[in-house]
Amino acid sequence: MLETFIRYLSVCHAMSNEKRREFLERLTEVEHDVLTSTGGLDIETADTMRENVIGITRIPIGLAENFVINGRQVLVPIATEERSVITQASVGARLVKNFEASTTGNIMIGQIQVLEVPDMASAKGAVLAEKEALLVDANTISKSRKAIDIRVKELDSAVGSMLIVEVYADVRDSMGANLIDSMCELLAPTVARLTGGRVNMRILSNLATERMVRVSATVDKELIGEDVIDQIIEADAFAWADPYRASTSNKGLMNGIIGLLLATCNDIRAVEAGAHSYAAITGEYKPLTKWMRTETGDLYGRLEMPMSVGTVGGVVRSHKLSRIVLKLLGVETASELAMIAGSVGLASNLGALYIMVTEGIKSIQA
Ligand code: MEV
Repeated sequence: MLETFIRYLSVCHAMSNEKRREFLERLTEVEHDVLTSTGGLDIETADTMRENVIGITRIPIGLAENFVINGRQVLVPIATEERSVITQASVGARLVKNFEASTTGNIMIGQIQVLEVPDMASAKGAVLAEKEALLVDANTISKSRKAIDIRVKELDSAVGSMLIVEVYADVRDSMGANLIDSMCELLAPTVARLTGGRVNMRILSNLATERMVRVSATVDKELIGEDVIDQIIEADAFAWADPYRASTSNKGLMNGIIGLLLATCNDIRAVEAGAHSYAAITGEYKPLTKWMRTETGDLYGRLEMPMSVGTVGGVVRSHKLSRIVLKLLGVETASELAMIAGSVGLASNLGALYIMVTEGIKSIQA
């Protein structure tokens, strides 16, 4: 059993040319050319997109295999410069019959910082009393993406106490940063008037706890054996006990997630920031995954993390490459993309653990 799987490892990063060609058949000739030549960006277009452009970076995109997510087979394009990232994800996915994935919705949070508040209790009350009017104002910005709640919290800080007014908005299939920042800036003068304080910061939070992805997976004990299951649980315990190991464990799962999000031109820094701040939300830095044994002796794992991704708006829709990659994935909504990203994260973690407790990571980096 183990030998068979190790044999599999030695070939799994060499997907046949035929299979790759078959996969690309769903693209038009023009799309195929974009994917294999310019990567969808020439220097003239790049110059209109960003400041002080002097060049274009290009990174290989490979296919991670073997994914079945909520019953659907998916081949996942991953952009990465690192050898073995795609193999780790494919190996993890090969061990799992089906990734069960869900999201909590597309709510993002914006924060308005208010200082020098003369009376905290009445400032909070005044904001909450005007909640409906504030929402109406915020909702003049977009027809379809709506602010749904306003909350308040008081913080003690190095510069004294401050009031934080938070705007919750359903950003739907966009990443949402522009919308949230616009809402916060629009509401700031009213918030200053209501609280009698001075507004300083008005900005999105990347700790997107209202936009979570959750993925779980089971590995049959017959497939990898009881000893390997024990070793993976021991490795997991190491990560839960030591932030030095948790950091590397989370880096490994972000390998796959960031690769997918880079290929779809999403804001990878936002997702990375959300991931690591969520990992430390208890005050101690922890892994984003957890592995355990089921009652029947199989291996069960789960991943939970914020996932603020978009399939519309900004570069995601304007960049030719991301349109092609989303088409290849068969993905329309942010939630679908988030569930694939979460599954790739859990698979990357599992694949890396499996390889490290058996042959060692160098076996796939040659
Ligand atoms: C390397 O890019 C990723 C790993 O270090 C992940 C891990 O240690 O879990 C192999």
